[in-house]
Amino acid sequence: MKTDVLLGLQWGDEGKGKIVDVLSPEYDIIARFQGGPNAGHTLIFNNQKFVLHLIPSGIFRENTTNVIGEGVVLDPVIFAEEIEQVEKSGRNLSENLLIAEKTNIILPTHRILDAADENELGKLKIGSTGKGIGPAYKDKTGRNALRVGDIMMPDFREKYKALKNKHLKRLETYNFEFGISEYEEKWFESIEKLKRFKFINGSHFFNDALSEGKKILAEGAQGTLLDINAGTYPFVTSSTVTSAGVCTGLGIAPSKIGDVYGIFKAYTTRVGSGPFPTELFDNDGEKLQNIGHEYGATTGRKRRCGWLDMTALKYAVQINGVTALIMTKADILSEFDTFKVSEYYELNGKKINYFPYKITYDLKPVYKIFKGWKSNLKNCKSKDEFPPEFAVFVNYIEKETGVPVKIISTGADRNDTLIC
Ligand code: GDP
Ligand code: IMO
Ligand code: MG
Repeated sequence: MKTDVLLGLQWGDEGKGKIVDVLSPEYDIIARFQGGPNAGHTLIFNNQKFVLHLIPSGIFRENTTNVIGEGVVLDPVIFAEEIEQVEKSGRNLSENLLIAEKTNIILPTHRILDAADENELGKLKIGSTGKGIGPAYKDKTGRNALRVGDIMMPDFREKYKALKNKHLKRLETYNFEFGISEYEEKWFESIEKLKRFKFINGSHFFNDALSEGKKILAEGAQGTLLDINAGTYPFVTSSTVTSAGVCTGLGIAPSKIGDVYGIFKAYTTRVGSGPFPTELFDNDGEKLQNIGHEYGATTGRKRRCGWLDMTALKYAVQINGVTALIMTKADILSEFDTFKVSEYYELNGKKINYFPYKITYDLKPVYKIFKGWKSNLKNCKSKDEFPPEFAVFVNYIEKETGVPVKIISTGADRNDTLIC
């Protein structure tokens, strides 16, 4: 067996959580492979809404094992709060939620460093989610990190203290006020709560599962344009978001990757700072924001909105080896008489049809105008029932990317999903 992957092709919030929840009955195992509580994955079913930050989105399915893979950075406090919230719904997670022992832990001082770094950057700040992601991954590559497996070691508190002191020394060089004791207390309580979960050797677990014929789906967080290598650096997150990250993040070989589902919104959004060529500052932008309820699931910040960007989408399809596309929020475009899609960019009068090194304000998207369908897509039960204008839009995307659109999401609820 191979591991399928579902990941974001834009700047995050494409609807990954919703679609993983929809697909999870087909899988034995759902695994997060990167990122941390910067993610906010929304699931809506039976008139209930859950926003998951660390727990994989297969958690509400009876026979699915959910795993936090070793590429993730885990904040015990956020994790404990999330467990409590999900268990309130009647689920007992002890049996179907596992954590890879190499998963890195976010310390209280990582969050402080994140805030201090942003404060130092001033106007140039990344617009991070403030969850300590950057500093935690810095400690991983700096070979300083604490990992979940360390929790069971007798010297855990000493290791914690040593790392915390390193952070405090660094913080002395900033002009930044902070308090730590309250969060630290909660953090140690939450570390105790972690101990009821099974810590696993991720690589053995996933490879054994594949040998036994089990089906695995790797759930991405963030989106390709936020990837540490492929994204709009430095306005990115600190992990490998792309399909390449599944190998290191779960501990499996590239030859074990199967289908790669690339998910995108029918338009584009971005939270935080950084370039966004098709961003709108007009009524259309406001309309997308309002009708699409575009507010960050983790921070509540307003999401910036713009039209679909084919140059960026084709780049993301290529870099991830996407084999099937998933379009979400098509229903939001139902409200528009016409809408636009950027076909390519122009820079100083020259056509650019790749994602350039530096995305500046001089880069001008060149738009194709599409006619809206002005009807409710929820009534469509198959591709044949698409309004003709919608079929034109979908065919255009398939032709340009060379990849079929296999799933279309027409609402936030689990049931508002058309598998073509
Ligand atoms: P994720 O981070 O990729 O899981 O996405 P988020 O949960 O952060 O953001 C997606 C938002 O869109 C959430 O509020 C979802 O409930 C909602 N959503 C997902 N798919 C659709 C869709 O097809 N139509 C509409 N209207 N909302 C959707
Ligand atoms: P999901 O999984 C949207 C953005 C932040 C910021 C940048 C760096 O819900 O799609 P970080 O806290 O990672 O250091 O922030 O990345 N960002 C996201 N934007 N969705 C996310 O996750 C994001 N996770 C991080 O807004 O611009
Ligand atoms: Mg999100």
